[in-house]
Amino acid sequence: MADPSQFPDPSQLQDPSQLPDPAQFPDPAPGPDSMPAFDWRTAEQQLSDVVQPRFVQPSAADGEDDPGEEPAWDIETSHIGLADVGGMTEVKKRLEAAFLAPMRNPELRRLYGKSLRGGLLLYGPPGCGKTFIARAVAGELGAKFITVSLSDVLDIYIGQSERNLHEVFAAARRNAPCVVFLDEIDALGGKRSSLRHNAMRGTVNQLLTELDGAQSDNDGVFVLAATNHPWDVDNALRRPGRLDRTLLVLPPDQAAREAVLRYHLRDRPIEGVDLVKLAKKTDGYSGADLAHICESAAESALLDSAASGRVRMIGMRDLLDAVGQVQPSIESWFAAARNVAMFANEGGMYDDLVAFLKKSRKL
Ligand SMILES: Nc1ncnc2c1ncn2[C@@H]1O[C@H](COP(=O)(O)OP(=O)(O)OP(=O)(O)O)[C@@H](O)[C@H]1O
Ligand SMILES: [Mg+2]
Repeated sequence: MADPSQFPDPSQLQDPSQLPDPAQFPDPAPGPDSMPAFDWRTAEQQLSDVVQPRFVQPSAADGEDDPGEEPAWDIETSHIGLADVGGMTEVKKRLEAAFLAPMRNPELRRLYGKSLRGGLLLYGPPGCGKTFIARAVAGELGAKFITVSLSDVLDIYIGQSERNLHEVFAAARRNAPCVVFLDEIDALGGKRSSLRHNAMRGTVNQLLTELDGAQSDNDGVFVLAATNHPWDVDNALRRPGRLDRTLLVLPPDQAAREAVLRYHLRDRPIEGVDLVKLAKKTDGYSGADLAHICESAAESALLDSAASGRVRMIGMRDLLDAVGQVQPSIESWFAAARNVAMFANEGGMYDDLVAFLKKSRKL
């Protein structure tokens, strides 16, 4: 308690009549008296909401049907089909034979039962259309499309990655027919190091359980997976009935390059662009490289227009200059793939790749 004797003697205080008249001051901001009483209780509540540690709550995470939580993935409706994928005739043929024909037909699926359960693993250099094709497959099947990047599913909390995966598949079953697209499947990294291997074991097992559909009905759930590093994918995932079929997605051929270029130039002001010539000049470029070329060409036309004050269309010159500046990004992928094709083609897993490397004299 404060000692009252220490308070100043009121007689010493200035005479209030001597003080300046408050009315002379400009209108002050509302003083403490006019403010609404501060609501500490609400503030505390808000603060605790912000700093609340987000620990896993098994009871909430368990519920497949818990509608409260915003899932980390989207359930899309695909508006593209295989007809929208330019070129790549070989890939489309294989897709049709190995995947689409049986999957389209529920009678066949029932007849052959489990043997049709397995999924398809798309592999190849980055930016060459794996995701695009997976989306087209969903469109062909008239199925919903859930894309999940494995690195998004993986969680540092023990058990949470498994729960996340389970929820993805539960959502797919609820929305069947549905294509589940597992991107970067190599993130499960079964082969990379024993340490990671142990940490990921549970997640790999969970994926196997979901794929086998042991406890649930996977009818109408189609699994596609993709990786740029098939050699890092856990072998357990590639056994029969799982991701047992592989499909090599190569850099776009001439017709595919034309389609990609057309797509990326569709909303841009272009003049006198010869797509056939451009496609010929861009052999060895990935879809993503082609997108980059269109981007650079647009940028240089824009900078020119800004400098001269006159709007200029994007022309062949801009695009060819951009081709000269952008290097194909997939050479390093082929360097790694070459080794695998030469030394690790177990069971003919990479026969397609070997054939392509030979044909293009990279082997
Ligand atoms: N055959 C094609 N026809 C039309 N567009 C294509 C084709 N192939 C690729 N593309 C275009 O190229 C872009 C890159 O393709 P996509 O993202 O599917 O590659 P990816 O193989 O999944 O790459 P990453 O390995 O980096 O995930 C897409 O946005 C798509 O528009
Ligand atoms: Mg992709």
